[in-house]
Amino acid sequence: MKLEVVILAAGQGKRMKSRLPKVLHVVGGMPLLEHVIRTAQGLDPRAIHVVIGHGSEQVQDALAHYDINWVVQEQQAGTGHAVLQALPAISDDSIVLVLYGDVPLTRLSTLQNLVQQARTAPALLTAEVQNPQGYGRILRDKIGALVGVVEDKDATPAQRGIREINTGLLAAPQRDFLAYLPQVGNDNQQGEYYLPDILSLAVANGKTVSSCAVESELEILGVNDRVQLNHVEREYQHRQAQQLMREGVNIADPARLDIRGSLSCGEDVSIDINVVFEGKVTLGNDVSVGAHCVLSDVSVADGSVIHPMSHLQQAVIGKDCSVGPYARLRPGTVLSEGARIGNFVETKKASIGPGSKVNHLSYIGDCDVGAEVNIGAGTITCNYDGVNKHKTEIGKGVFVGSNSTLVAPLQIEEQGFVAAGSTITGSVGKGELAVSRARQRNIEGWVRPGTRGTKD
Ligand code: UD1
Ligand code: CA
Repeated sequence: MKLEVVILAAGQGKRMKSRLPKVLHVVGGMPLLEHVIRTAQGLDPRAIHVVIGHGSEQVQDALAHYDINWVVQEQQAGTGHAVLQALPAISDDSIVLVLYGDVPLTRLSTLQNLVQQARTAPALLTAEVQNPQGYGRILRDKIGALVGVVEDKDATPAQRGIREINTGLLAAPQRDFLAYLPQVGNDNQQGEYYLPDILSLAVANGKTVSSCAVESELEILGVNDRVQLNHVEREYQHRQAQQLMREGVNIADPARLDIRGSLSCGEDVSIDINVVFEGKVTLGNDVSVGAHCVLSDVSVADGSVIHPMSHLQQAVIGKDCSVGPYARLRPGTVLSEGARIGNFVETKKASIGPGSKVNHLSYIGDCDVGAEVNIGAGTITCNYDGVNKHKTEIGKGVFVGSNSTLVAPLQIEEQGFVAAGSTITGSVGKGELAVSRARQRNIEGWVRPGTRGTKD
């Protein structure tokens, strides 16, 4: 039998107190709903149907790159009503798994288990929780067979004492949904069509409903407000850090690491405290990232060190490079093997050749730097004339003295030498020395103001 997944995501999420639809709130740099879609994809289903309502266009736009059958539920009349909207698009020979767009941490193995149990009759994912308030409670008969679910708002005081709860996630053959969903009514405290009501209907028709208990409560954490969103975020980050440590990464403090995208690491990588990784980041063998760095869509090759307080964005760092402390590498920065970028240096669209150094207080933008170049402290490439950006090309072995201003477009050929404090406006030939500054004058017998004799 083929699997089809229905993800419920029509709710507004009033308690988020936000203009953004709830399922677009982000955990680990990715919308809640995207986490659920990716987990669903892991089950290799024939189709994924997502029921949307509040902010439906915004949700569709945000996840347009996924192959989804979007189902719009105009009015949020309950979870049963939501699944009913998706039912016409589901093939009749399939098993249907229902997930929630705001429950992002469920493990694949848990869901595989649930689906396995739903081949001939419904199966429900349940959990034993410390505080069952707000959840639907599981009702069982004398011999422990599941007979139904009662919602918190409809429960008697005795039923409220039950600590086995409905996680909301369930699976069943399509024909069970077809048989029982249309029979579900809305005569309850909330006037809603409750999806779990299909379970008592199935039992009344002689079916045995199975249940699977989730191992950890954390797997079924749902998001209703920002406190829960944060709870889910921290749990997600905790899992990522644990996973990396198991893979051999040395993490100074897993509670002070945030991965908002994907991070892949080679062997013997070290990550100090308060580092944020965004987008796709790759770290090679023996890479070390210092405290308080932000790396966003960056790859760092073997043996390189990113010193503390550095910010790297869309940059490619070669082998055995050194970056920072306090470096800012902006998009289009490419460092070749052994290059060094020091403190208070900003680079943008800059390729720095093998073994070259920009060690202090410089701005290098729209610039190609060859091998073994030394760029002195305070060097600025003037790449912008107020309208256009221009390029600076610096050849192999060039030495740029401190506090030089390189007015682009400009070329400094191989082994060229720029004297400190120069403003360079024309190209420098191979091996030439360019000096462009006022010559020093020393004035003999000069008297300091205030030290002259006073006159009446
Ligand atoms: C639901 C269950 C409850 C369970 C709890 C677990 C029902 C009736 N109750 O309650 O037994 O313990 O989840 O968290 O199923 N949704 C729609 N359309 C709707 C209504 C809801 O798409 O018309 C979506 C919501 O966006 C959400 C999910 O379904 O993702 C659950 O809805 P919610 O209102 O949060 O259900 P609960 O009252 O929490
Ligand atoms: Ca809920």
